[in-house]
Formats: sequence, structure tokens, C-alpha cells
Amino acid sequence: MRTLIVANWKMNMKRDEAEAFTERLLSLLSEGAGAATAPEIAIAPPYTALATLASALSGSSIALAAQDVSVHSSGAFTGEVAADMLADIGCRYGLVGHSERRQLWSESNEDVSRKAKALLRAGVTPIVCIGETREEREKGQTAEIVLEQLQASLPPAGTPGRDTLVVAYEPVWAIGTGLTATPDQAQEVHTLIRDCLREEFGRAAEQIRIQYGGSVNPENVKSIMAQNNIDGVLVGGASLDAAQFSKILQYDSQENVPQ
Ligand code: PGA
Repeated sequence: MRTLIVANWKMNMKRDEAEAFTERLLSLLSEGAGAATAPEIAIAPPYTALATLASALSGSSIALAAQDVSVHSSGAFTGEVAADMLADIGCRYGLVGHSERRQLWSESNEDVSRKAKALLRAGVTPIVCIGETREEREKGQTAEIVLEQLQASLPPAGTPGRDTLVVAYEPVWAIGTGLTATPDQAQEVHTLIRDCLREEFGRAAEQIRIQYGGSVNPENVKSIMAQNNIDGVLVGGASLDAAQFSKILQYDSQENVPQ
């Protein structure tokens, strides 16, 4: 399966910054040594930069992603953006259930499931984010919490294309903190997630990409990506700098990443 690396810019980057970033990233990638494995790449800018990125990325193989979506399809929902609007602007992916949305906007698993369904109906692939807090990990509840979130956040049974989703495991304590799950800690949870997806989707589960996220950077990406059942990364802070992000994308080329 092709690995997937996604930049989550969160609430950063005005249009001119997004344009300058893209120009620099494309030039760094074209100078690159040619990695042995070429990941699929997507960038999730704030809504205001989607149109700018759509044109800056046209002709490149980098896809556009959204950071969130409304559960509704149209109507009187001030401030919301519908899935088919995201499809219309060219989004191939959409994040749902990021821990910041769950914590700061009290999004429930049910909201996340509805959002994932809305995206699939519009032809946009959902990236369903799940992960435990530090407290839950310390109490030994990681497996229980992550699997409960996963099962309840999946698009409802019967939603067409349900098994094409992407899952992102992001331990909350590792997001934006500089703390990263060790490759072993991450792999342990990813294996549980794969087993759960097998129960849900049967053989199709083998093709579902499970990303890791949480303080991924050019120094740690290679050891994370080397683990079984880790099929990509979701990158926040380190995706705001084109040089850093291009090193992450080229993690497989020896000269760019320290061993
Ligand atoms: P981080 O963010 O890489 O800055 O930890 C990851 C995320 O929130 O997706």
C-alpha cells in the first residue's frame, strides 16, 4: 500500500505564505535525491487558503485536504463548510475528529462518524483521528479508549466507500509537545487498530492506511515509518516549514535524514 503523509497547518498560513511555502516545497522536492519509496502527500491548510493551494498545487501530485467539515449538507449553518464544497474546491482528504476539535469544541465520536459519512458521500476520503490523553495512558486505558473511539467514530455501517477511510492515531500527549510515542509504543497501538479494522472490514482492512501523528519531525520520522502497521504520518508543527516538511517527505533517502 502507498504510504500517506499529510501536513496539518491548523490555524496558520495566510495566502501569500501558503504560496511561498508551496513554491519552496516543490523546488526542494524536485532537487531531492529521489526517494526509494514515494509517499502520497496532502496538505490541509485553513479554509481561507484552500483556493490558493488548489491553484499552487495544480500540476503537482500533492493533494489538497481539509481540516474539518460540517455534518450538514447545506442550509442555515453559519460558519460551517459542507463536504461537497470541499469536494468542489478539490479536496481529496478531510480530517475529522482531530483531538483539538474533540477537546476544544467538545466533538463526540458520533459527530466524527457523521462528518466521516458526509465526506464519503461527497467523494472525499476521511482521515479519522483518534488518540488517548496522558491521563488515560497513565491509567493503562490506552487500548480501551483508542478502540472505543475508533469503533464509534467510523462512518456508520452501510455508508458506501466506508472501507476507503484513513485512520490517524495521534496520542494527545504527543501533539505539539515535542514528546513522541516511541516506535514500539506507536506500533503496539497501530496493531490493535489494524486488528479492530479487520473485525470491521475483513480483508479490506489490510489496505486501510493507519497514520501516526504527534511531534513527527525529520529526525524521528524514519524510525516511526519503519514500524509494521504504520502507513504514514500526520504532521503539524514541522509541516509549517518547507525545508523540514520536505525532509520528512524524503525520509527514505539516506542523505536527508540522520541514521
Ligand atoms: P504536531 O501536530 O506534529 O505539531 O504534534 C500533529 C497534529 O496535531 O496533527
